[in-house]
Amino acid sequence: MKFLKVMNTVAIDGPAGSGKSTVSKLVAERLGFTYIDTGAMYRALTLKVMRKDIPFDDEAGITEVSQSLDLQLLPADAGKETIRVVLDSEDISEEIRKMEVTVNVKYVAKIPEVRENLVRLQRKMAKDMNGAVMEGRDIGTVVLPNAKNKFYVDASFEERIERRLAELRAKGHPTTHDEVADDLKQRDHTDKTRKVGPLKKADDAIFTDTTDLSIDEVVTKIIGLVNTK
Ligand code: CDP
Repeated sequence: MKFLKVMNTVAIDGPAGSGKSTVSKLVAERLGFTYIDTGAMYRALTLKVMRKDIPFDDEAGITEVSQSLDLQLLPADAGKETIRVVLDSEDISEEIRKMEVTVNVKYVAKIPEVRENLVRLQRKMAKDMNGAVMEGRDIGTVVLPNAKNKFYVDASFEERIERRLAELRAKGHPTTHDEVADDLKQRDHTDKTRKVGPLKKADDAIFTDTTDLSIDEVVTKIIGLVNTK
């Protein structure tokens, strides 16, 4: 049983600005699967820790918060790109995308016990769904190692900056090219060098360079490679 591949799950990993979220959401729609954004979970936990004024070096305190998160990931409203995230009955979808939260996720995401708790929740979510597209950093390697369909998406650093800049500006978050470049550089480093669940291509994941591809082209390519039978 252990080696049986899980056919109705698609794991998509990659760095920020690789197009991963937009692509994952569209792939899920096309397959009729549920889209699960695991980054939103780390972001929601970070926001809660900030609101509770728990210092980022208080690993036990942060772990405790991660044990009983009242968190719901709901489909995006019509016309919106990102899913709705509800924490303790409050819609925090916009709040978690702000730079203040983004820059602090690393403190929370590096704590092994926190990752254990969130990974458990993510596995349960995938299992409860009749088909899931789950995206993050460690989905193919840690969360769903038995997923039959694994992808690792990436793009050139400059292209990733431009995409993230456009995305933040469209949402009305004021930012600059340098600020985004610094954030991506920092997060690439912390995501890739983290001891537990680092950003890494699974050996059996298909690498897709999205630099010169439109969103539609990436989605079509992935759909063409997914095997759910
Ligand atoms: O949307 P973006 O690619 O900027 O980031 P995200 O997917 O929302 O994830 C935010 C942060 O959460 C990342 O920089 C990672 O540090 C962390 N994360 C993680 O550690 N593991 C995951 N499975 C997903 C996100």
